[in-house]
Amino acid sequence: MKILAIETSCDDSCIAIAKCSAGKFELISSLISSQIEIHRKWGGVYPALARREHQKNLTPLLSQVLKKDNLLVVSKSKIKNPELKNLKNILDRELILSKKLIEFLDEYEAPRIDLIAVTIGPGLDPCLWTGVNFARALSYCWDIPIVGINHIEAHVFANDKLSIIHDKKNLPSLALIVSGGHTQLILIKKPGDYKILGETRDDAAGEAFDKIARILGLDYPGGPAIAAEAAKKSSVSSQGSKQTDKIVIKVPRPMLNTKDYDFSFSGLKTAVLYDYKKRTKKEQKSEAYIQAMASEAQQAIIDVLIKKTIKAAKDYRVKSILLGGGVTANKELRKQFQQKIKKENSRFKLYVSPPKYCTDNAAMIATTACFKQTAKNQSLDRWESIKAIPNLRIND
Ligand code: KG4
Ligand code: ZN
Repeated sequence: MKILAIETSCDDSCIAIAKCSAGKFELISSLISSQIEIHRKWGGVYPALARREHQKNLTPLLSQVLKKDNLLVVSKSKIKNPELKNLKNILDRELILSKKLIEFLDEYEAPRIDLIAVTIGPGLDPCLWTGVNFARALSYCWDIPIVGINHIEAHVFANDKLSIIHDKKNLPSLALIVSGGHTQLILIKKPGDYKILGETRDDAAGEAFDKIARILGLDYPGGPAIAAEAAKKSSVSSQGSKQTDKIVIKVPRPMLNTKDYDFSFSGLKTAVLYDYKKRTKKEQKSEAYIQAMASEAQQAIIDVLIKKTIKAAKDYRVKSILLGGGVTANKELRKQFQQKIKKENSRFKLYVSPPKYCTDNAAMIATTACFKQTAKNQSLDRWESIKAIPNLRIND
């Protein structure tokens, strides 16, 4: 079975094609059109802008991904009138997309794709809808079934998690999903059977990285920018520089010792802001201060994520821990997780995706669709019935 996967829940327009047969998954290609440059000046994702960009990006991405797989064949006939009218209705609210996509569908034949998988939630409502309407139009025009995918479940399945979760040796498993919109600890009793053990009560960890970066005048997205500044501090410190070491900053580790598995990151952002405000302008702009604060804030987030995850892993006697979501691309987090597990002589196996599959991508949507088809635990939808659900939860 060939799957065409679509992901537009936030600010990345992503399309992938994969093969899935008898539980075997093979990624053919995965393309991303990043909107970082567009959102940079706002210091965060601006939903209406993100939606407009998805509308512009999706058709060219589709064309590229099909071309790569030799699936782009010029059509001998044009779309007939009742069909054209229905397509226009489906794309009624997606004006920019509508024009480009209908031209494309008119020009090319239906490709040999067996299933369309699209993220239906959680995510930003306008962005999700553009992806869903795009998928609905393709499903209608090409007469291909469609399956709605949960974005968080996809982060759990990112990369090669298909075989990991199916291996009984790894179950029960615990997933830590940390992204710009979510921070959740999810117990996986078996594939498809999830329980949310804890989650953030306010800001997500990625959101904290983004907001702290903004306070410090760093680039968007904040995670990689903070990580880069923190890395500079440790390399300078290891060379014995006095200046960076002289600045001692301590920010709180919110909810580090609570008995539950919840998180809270908004107080951390406020603590950074207070510290920043009490510095002189010269200090605020100094490399030493920015590096010291980036390092301390990053460490505070890492400390909480690791402590709570290991606590839940022990309490629920899991056999493996899966890390997913954009924040798990963080090198220091990955390294310290490995070290902690080694140091404690824990029996948990730690699975982390390559960084490019931690942040949003459509390969993970295809993997999840493949799992669902293999497990037959999700029925296929018709284009008429599929809709975006911005607050969708993994255990819904
Ligand atoms: O999973 P993702 O791509 O999108 C959402 O579903 O939200 O995660 C994006 C988030 C952003 O907040 C970004 O700052 C953060 O992941 N991020 C990182 C790193 N790379 C991306 N955070 C810390 N360190 C990184 N290297
Ligand atoms: Zn995500």
